[in-house]
Amino acid sequence: MAENQSLDQFKAQPRLPKFANPRRYDLKLKPDLVSCKFSGSVSITIDVVSETRFLVLNAAELEIDRASIVYRSAAAADSAKEVRPSDVHVVEEDEVVVLEFGEAVAVGEGVLGIGYEGTLNDKMKGFYRSVYELNGEKRNMAVTQFEPADARRCFPCWDEPAAKATFKITLEVPSEVLALSNMPVIQENHNGHLKTISFQESPIMSTYLVAMVVGLFDYVEGQTTDGIKVRVYCQVGKANQGKLALDVAVKTLDLYKLYFATPYPLPKLDMIAIPDFAAGAMENYGLVTYRETALLFDDQHSAAANKQRVATVVAHELAHQWFGNLVTMEWWTHLWLNEGFATWVSYLAVDSIFPEWKVWTQFLDETTDGLRLDGLAESHPIEVEIKHAREIDEIFDAISYRKGASVIRMLQSYLGPAIFQCGSQLTDVVKSLASYIKKYAYSNAKTEDLWGVLEEGSGEPVQELMNSWTKQKGYPVISVKVEGHRLEFEQSQFLSSGDRGDGQWIVPITLCSGSYDARKNFLLQKKLETLDIADLVGNQKKWIKLNVDQTGFYRVKYDDDLAARLRSAIEANDLSAADRFGILDDSFALSMAGKLSLSSLLRLMSAYGREVEYTVLSNLITVSYKVARIAADAATELADDIKQFFINLFQSPAEKLGWEPRKGESHLDAMLRGEILAALAVFGHDGTRSEGVKRFRAFLDDRNTPLLPPDTRKAAYVAVMQTVSSSDKWGYESLLRIYRESDLGQEKTRILSSLTSCPDPAIVREGLDFLLSSEVRSQDAVFGVAAVSKEGCETAWKWLQENWDHIVKTYGSGFLITRFISAVVSPFSSHEKAAEVEQFFANRSKASIERTLKQSLERVHINTNWVQSIRQEKSLAEVLKQLVSGKY
Ligand code: BES
Ligand code: ZN
Repeated sequence: MAENQSLDQFKAQPRLPKFANPRRYDLKLKPDLVSCKFSGSVSITIDVVSETRFLVLNAAELEIDRASIVYRSAAAADSAKEVRPSDVHVVEEDEVVVLEFGEAVAVGEGVLGIGYEGTLNDKMKGFYRSVYELNGEKRNMAVTQFEPADARRCFPCWDEPAAKATFKITLEVPSEVLALSNMPVIQENHNGHLKTISFQESPIMSTYLVAMVVGLFDYVEGQTTDGIKVRVYCQVGKANQGKLALDVAVKTLDLYKLYFATPYPLPKLDMIAIPDFAAGAMENYGLVTYRETALLFDDQHSAAANKQRVATVVAHELAHQWFGNLVTMEWWTHLWLNEGFATWVSYLAVDSIFPEWKVWTQFLDETTDGLRLDGLAESHPIEVEIKHAREIDEIFDAISYRKGASVIRMLQSYLGPAIFQCGSQLTDVVKSLASYIKKYAYSNAKTEDLWGVLEEGSGEPVQELMNSWTKQKGYPVISVKVEGHRLEFEQSQFLSSGDRGDGQWIVPITLCSGSYDARKNFLLQKKLETLDIADLVGNQKKWIKLNVDQTGFYRVKYDDDLAARLRSAIEANDLSAADRFGILDDSFALSMAGKLSLSSLLRLMSAYGREVEYTVLSNLITVSYKVARIAADAATELADDIKQFFINLFQSPAEKLGWEPRKGESHLDAMLRGEILAALAVFGHDGTRSEGVKRFRAFLDDRNTPLLPPDTRKAAYVAVMQTVSSSDKWGYESLLRIYRESDLGQEKTRILSSLTSCPDPAIVREGLDFLLSSEVRSQDAVFGVAAVSKEGCETAWKWLQENWDHIVKTYGSGFLITRFISAVVSPFSSHEKAAEVEQFFANRSKASIERTLKQSLERVHINTNWVQSIRQEKSLAEVLKQLVSGKY
């Protein structure tokens, strides 16, 4: 065996060869926060499982100074010897280092020692530097972000989730700073202006979860009922902003202990806000890192939406401490096991802590985003083949998170009763999860392992049912027709392009008729099925709603008769909020796909005139933005009427909410107020614009004015930006002033996502250029790109091309670059534009953006078809006139 090995066989492989398994890492690092260099040495205890002349492990951007292995050879089993490799090959392309030995290393235990140097980079991955201010001075901190495959940029390792090992970490740092890692400190030795900090050895875990942070921070501290110490670390002087997250974390840990029937596995939990951070948060074992906006909450200046974001992100990352960290996916193909589950479980926790937020209704935002992405031919299955580390970043997407979470919800509602009512009444699904966690703790699992446990727990054919949802991309649309008291169902794959895909699913169909007590459910296994519902409807023409409460991951297309009955049911307020949401959302998707006229969609929207529910109105707003844009592309003369129609639709709920909070009002009203006022401002409602500007002036005079509380600030900023033009830049410049003066991430984000919403393309350009200036952290620029106004789209595309080299340099190695592409490209609606984009990227694409680029181009084609089908709607202008005048 060892004789036939050659270097080439280790190249371009998706996974490392299995000659040896790491058992324990003894890692010593010395970061220099001034020069931004670090030196490291690692001793890895390995099990050599087959005799080999090569040891292959991951390393990237590290300068290896020395390497050797100490092991007992087969010949002299009683004495260990140290052998240096005859050659060290660095294969940069594959991020591996191959240690070649003159003689084969024997089977058995060995200790591999490697000394090396590296750089604290500016790319927000690996071992990197983040910049913060202390007493007006800029300082560097050292931070790690290793998921999915960047531990290799900090130390040579078997950088795969299944290669679990223990970690003993030691840091040498300046004596005045704080150093944190996954485990508690066990020893601190000072020598001069340096100190050596050793952390307790970790339980076995994957490399992507190892973490270190070195810098100056304040903290707040709490404790779980088990006595686990929980801390939230913040900027110096801002410890108060950590209190909300601390409170949520302590409660959540107690809940998860119950759900998973397993205590939190580590002795402590630290959570820390990092000023430069690519993702929203990262679940490192025992040391969770966050963007500031996802962890910190300021009572004076953070909004209700910010509060919900903090709670959700904390609940999500803490779910990973079990689901991901204790039980880890075997390979990135099963990433959704981590992300889909953490997403779903976070709703259980947040719902339990904040029942008045009705997050299970808000969950539909997750489902609809999953459906939206999965309606593309360029989508991918939940379980996706990964052939190279560079492909992993792109699957942290709405399929893994949102479709993943949604299919779990679908399964849970198929298997068990409603989500549990109180902490002690766990559903069967949650009980099965606990046995899954127990069975695979300190180990790895695949998708089928989870189904196995659920199948055992429920006695249902979970494996077969779920394979159709995780192994193929896409989802079905169920067309339903009524003939007296018989319903006819037909499933076909839904594609937003209007094409018919050839997928087929096992669909858990639920329906109710006339009331939520009259229900039926069955599994639709074939393409066609009929069902007699005489027992539900008798001879009456009652409304019939499929996918009750939208727990299924599919869409429904009703025949005209059923659609009309549902429209009346919405007007009569007979349906649940989730069902009102679903009917709107499916109709919107069908309209985009050319399966439902825009007139019908608008008529349906007019049925929501008395809507009060946050999640439904919020989706109504999202849909109206998209409809207004596409209608303007289809026929400019429609644009004003469409806007007026939406203004009419939103005016009365907006008037009820007003600009200032009422005493004791709900969290959901607080969130709704901001969204609805912003929509009115964008659609051109004069009253909202002038009120927004007026209140903004008051805010400029006094940052604590009660006239512009945090929940309405974004709406006021957007209103102000609608009035800005090249000849009158007062609003724009005032916003920049607030941006520069504020040191609250959430405030800065609000401003960035307003600046480019201006109808004047010249201002949009200025805003976009500002995003790339040194005043905006590279983590934040995408907010501005995603907010570009309809009028600014062309400008944004030009800007993207002109700045592409710079953008690649700053973002090219991370996943944020994909957001630039989708935000700029997807809004277009002509085949010519698609061709232009394709041409630009012809020689600029690469593995890490390929999928996003294809998806964005597909969206352009979908928009183009949509525009064409709208142009063919002869009666649209007429219908719209009637709707605007209130005749429908
Ligand atoms: N594991 C991810 C962080 C991550 C994302 C690492 C992408 C590498 C690439 C983390 O658990 C996560 O999912 N964070 C979310 C927030 C969450 C509430 C959905 C995020 O970063 O947006
Ligand atoms: Zn996650």
